[in-house]
Amino acid sequence: MTQISVSVNGTPHAANVEPRTLLVYYLREHLGLTGTNVGCDTSSCGACTVLVDGESVKSCTMLAAQADGREVTTIEGMAAADGTMHPLQDAFHRNHGLQCGFCTPGMIMAAASYLQENPAPTEELEGNLCRCTGYQNIVASILDAATPISDVRV
Ligand code: FES
Ligand code: FES
Repeated sequence: MTQISVSVNGTPHAANVEPRTLLVYYLREHLGLTGTNVGCDTSSCGACTVLVDGESVKSCTMLAAQADGREVTTIEGMAAADGTMHPLQDAFHRNHGLQCGFCTPGMIMAAASYLQENPAPTEELEGNLCRCTGYQNIVASILDAATPISDVRV
């Protein structure tokens, strides 16, 4: 077993995990944070995307042990303490940027990182897959949330 200490959504956690434990399963099964989904076994769908030290990471491609000493943010950590939705969550809600919602947490986490690096985004977004929406409203949601970028928190 490997001992890890990880901050998740601002809360410190210490645990012993098997060295092979993927970060996504640590989040889902050890911490009960099931907003981070598993949509493939090929590292391609992005449903498992979280932020690690502010950078988007597909958590099915990272070992929990690699998150030792780092800050992880999941979809559960995006809303404010009083329940106010993150601007991206609000934009997805207002623009109908989802259908079944399975991909949505990963989309929002990837978009949060993307908007930090691209405060004036174009429609050339990539890296996450959605089987429902056709992407039009997802892109509209992300562009909406980018205005104004100063409102976007990570
Ligand atoms: Fe599909 Fe991680 S579960 S990329
Ligand atoms: Fe269903 Fe994207 S809303 S997979």
